[in-house]
Amino acid sequence: MAQAVRELMDTAPGHQLSFDEKLGIVVDREWAERDNRRLTRRLKEAKLATRASLDNVLCDPERGVDKATMRALSSCQWVKSKHNIVVVGKTGVGKTYVGAALADAACRTGYRAIFFRVPRLLEELALARASGVYASLLGKLSRIDVLVLDDFLLNPMTDIERRDLLEVVEDRYDKTSTVITTQMPTKTWHEALGDPTIADAICDRLVHNAHVLKLGGPSIRRKKALETQPQPA
Ligand SMILES: Nc1ncnc2c1ncn2[C@@H]1O[C@H](COP(=O)(O)OP(=O)(O)O)[C@@H](O)[C@H]1O
Ligand SMILES: [Mg+2]
Repeated sequence: MAQAVRELMDTAPGHQLSFDEKLGIVVDREWAERDNRRLTRRLKEAKLATRASLDNVLCDPERGVDKATMRALSSCQWVKSKHNIVVVGKTGVGKTYVGAALADAACRTGYRAIFFRVPRLLEELALARASGVYASLLGKLSRIDVLVLDDFLLNPMTDIERRDLLEVVEDRYDKTSTVITTQMPTKTWHEALGDPTIADAICDRLVHNAHVLKLGGPSIRRKKALETQPQPA
């Protein structure tokens, strides 16, 4: 605000603006700055694995991704409707990128998001239990509009980890949105989760109202690595 007022005071005398016009400019500037500060805070809180944007997701039929779907997702209607998104594909096809881009879109629309690799989240839950802040961490996670769970089912889970994950998804079901990235197709989740009863409960809450994005095509990571390899002299 102070900056906007200073700039207006410095305006050349020939450049006449009414008091109302000046006030309007100062108020608009103040709102824009506050919006910017809020967005910066939300993006920092989201702890995204990578800077990513839905506008830059590589769209091509071979990858199974099209512009219309990305445009629809960037409106964040899925967050408003409390729907989940499952991003499935082999390693290197851009799952983590899309997960981060979805969280970025949510932050830009005014929602709170947070990005976790699943092994890291399970570790934090175990630490929280040990230090007596388990309930408060669960409460915090349940209030986040978009929780990205990256690399779901990359490693087998222990019984306590399965139960922890169920607590997280149970609290969020139908209230907030969860984005899951995984190499495992949804039909294999039940078996991969291990315990049939808990697997039923987790799958039900994650898959029931989810949009599934299947990413295909060659690994972008491999392609990038080949491009940056030194050329033989
Ligand atoms: N749309 C994109 N534009 C630019 N780089 C991308 C895009 N999607 C993925 N990448 C890059 O490709 C590499 C692999 O993507 P990543 O999301 O890590 O794959 P996955 O999680 O499926 O293994 C990363 O270096 C990532 O930054
Ligand atoms: Mg990844």
